[in-house]
Amino acid sequence: MSTNIFPVDLYSDTLTKPTAGMRQAIANAEVGDEQKREDPTVNKLEAMVAERLGMGGAVFLPTGTMCNLIAHAIHCRPGDEIIIEQNSHPVHFEGGGPAVHSRVSIRGLATERGIFSADQVEGAIRPNDPHFPRSRLVCLEDTHNMGGGTVWPMAAIESVAAAARKHKLKMHLDGARLFNATVASGVKPAAVCKHFDSVWIDLTKGLGCPVGAVLAGPADFIEEARRLKQLYGGAMRQAGIIAAAGG
Ligand SMILES: Cc1ncc(COP(=O)(O)O)c(C=O)c1O
Repeated sequence: MSTNIFPVDLYSDTLTKPTAGMRQAIANAEVGDEQKREDPTVNKLEAMVAERLGMGGAVFLPTGTMCNLIAHAIHCRPGDEIIIEQNSHPVHFEGGGPAVHSRVSIRGLATERGIFSADQVEGAIRPNDPHFPRSRLVCLEDTHNMGGGTVWPMAAIESVAAAARKHKLKMHLDGARLFNATVASGVKPAAVCKHFDSVWIDLTKGLGCPVGAVLAGPADFIEEARRLKQLYGGAMRQAGIIAAAGG
């Protein structure tokens, strides 16, 4: 017997289901071998996301979790440390992915609702001393899920990015719900993304697609991401079938 007595289940946007239009797009999708970059529907989706986020390129991946792990692996070397809000997705919900895949440690920043300051970043950066892990990457989540869907104010993004740049750290954005954030703030997605070295969006959250996420960044970053996509077993074949829903 179902225990859900409510007509609409508001547990999470992860419960969204593909619309009739998406199912139609899936049925009509032109497909090819995605590993050879010959799937026109995947290629179109990647180009659209790169353009919308104002990034040099983009790569279609099976999940947002894989977007995070590939970004960590590209930006960091084993023994590095990631500065990230203490209740962010990779800290609790990726099976220890940063430690397993990238062999990095996590410096979790305490916040009320997911938004940290440039001062907190400055305070977390390790001195250049062989005793310490090397601070390498600052990760933001926008909206911040465990913070209750908090939207990062632009001024906070700008000051955190300036602190990261000053110390030559990379910036990564978990934008699983970036479009929710930019609809709420009225800021164009590209205006947010220009502060980051990598960013990704999830197709399976508010958008309601059945599968997939898109990781974006400069062309050389995306070239490396395609290599890791293969390495981690995320390269697909006629993936236009699933990409069509997000196109
Ligand atoms: C903020 C955030 N990051 C990453 C993920 C992981 O995305 P996926 O479920 O596509 O792996 C989620 C999923 O709920 C999320 O909420």
